[in-house]
Amino acid sequence: MTPVLIKLGYLAAAVCFIFGLKQLSHPRTAVRGNVVGSVGMLLAIVLTFLDHNIVRFEFIAAGLVVGGVAGAVLALMIRITAMPQMVALLNGFGGGASVLVAGASMIATQVVAGVPEGQLQAATVASGIIGGVTFWGSLVAYGKLEGIVMGGSVQLPFHQVLNLALFVVSLILGSLIVLAPSWAVSSYWLMVLAASVLGIMLTLPIGGADMPVAICLLNSYSGLAGAATGFVLANNALIITGSLVGASGIILTQIMCKAMNRSLVNVLTGGFEAAEGTIKSADEIYEGRIKATTAEELAMVFDAARRVVITPGYGMAVARAQHAVRDLANLLEKRGVVVEYGIHPVAGRMPGHMNVLLAEAEVPYDKMKELDQINPTFEQTDVVMVIGANDTVNPMASTDSACPIAGMPILEVGKARTVVVIKRSLSPGFAGIPNPLFAADNTLMFFADAEKAVLAIIAALKEAA
Ligand code: TAP
Repeated sequence: MTPVLIKLGYLAAAVCFIFGLKQLSHPRTAVRGNVVGSVGMLLAIVLTFLDHNIVRFEFIAAGLVVGGVAGAVLALMIRITAMPQMVALLNGFGGGASVLVAGASMIATQVVAGVPEGQLQAATVASGIIGGVTFWGSLVAYGKLEGIVMGGSVQLPFHQVLNLALFVVSLILGSLIVLAPSWAVSSYWLMVLAASVLGIMLTLPIGGADMPVAICLLNSYSGLAGAATGFVLANNALIITGSLVGASGIILTQIMCKAMNRSLVNVLTGGFEAAEGTIKSADEIYEGRIKATTAEELAMVFDAARRVVITPGYGMAVARAQHAVRDLANLLEKRGVVVEYGIHPVAGRMPGHMNVLLAEAEVPYDKMKELDQINPTFEQTDVVMVIGANDTVNPMASTDSACPIAGMPILEVGKARTVVVIKRSLSPGFAGIPNPLFAADNTLMFFADAEKAVLAIIAALKEAA
């Protein structure tokens, strides 16, 4: 195949990625977007096969088989609630691959053609630094989410000064690759070492609840590392895909920072944890104010309702209660009740977590309302059913500036006539703080597993009919 055809093919693959990304931005078109993106990737891989300049067929085929099998096994084994860990690992592998490919390419270029050119050297330095930061940063993020590494913010004395020093050392070692070519290979690996320590140091201060933002940022880094490696290999497809991942990762990072009302600097320096220790205790908030309820009592509450809003959270995912929730909504709708879903942007454990689960249960997309759309409707809502959600409905975010979710916009469910909260106990959510909503006058607590609770309400509603 001629180089021009290969380049045109890569361009077609890039167009598929762009259209795929565009379609991924809405749940209705997301599945199609995934297919379009995958077709683009297949095209890029086939073209790489046909491009004899790149590497021998056997190596690509072996990589394809090993990577494909490992990816499929991981994807099949992973629990949906552990998806952020999986994404963290995938980001890390992307960064690690960039480091290795850029390093190997530098060694090969030196052997074959002597001193590499300026562009190649700059791209190699960028791949090494960003890739090293991404690989180790992602491993720490994975460890924190899995509970292997301390989940809270870990700060060393002069932490930010040390980070700056490591960055400067990485840059100095990077410039040595250009200035002292005979030491280029040793300088490269020392630079990767400094960047790797920097990656660990950058992720350690990020508190557990901020990890989603960190993962989006690391996702962006892995894209940038890939794009830099694209310049090393002079591979247009890699440059384009890397740039797309880099850009989409940073946009998602911004969206999530906004959803949590945090600045990126605040997240990266571990500001989340700094305010802890000054909020009211669970006992002070809950003592004598919790009203437990039963399925039968709730059947009467729902029976009298004309408008119901369901706000799901992480617990719905754990209990796999989305199908039961849909059945309850169908039953209520058959009785003339208007049912909508209020989706908080960081509900669950990954972006779009609740949308994916509800879509899987065939809940129509137009019933899933975003925070800004649903909040003004709560005052006209008879019953809000909070199912397995906690932080995303915690009024402390707006009333207590010392709490770790201070300033995060929440679903203002407390404005509804009655709030029904389904969870197993009074345990806190991800942010580890009590929730005054549970003690509010208009709140009824149904302590049970989310799926069992909803099935019990359905049975009670049918029985009462
Ligand atoms: P959370 O605040 O984490 O609360 C989830 C609640 O679900 C818990 O209080 C738990 O209470 C309950 N639960 C667990 N298993 C259950 C089951 N089987 N049945 C019924 N309830 C169950 O959830 P949220 O409101 O969705 O908020 C998400 C939090 O995670 C935010 O702080 C967010 O910043 C953070 N986070 C988000 C993401 C993304 S991108 N979405 C990623 C990582 C972290 P019990 O134990 O008492 O049942």
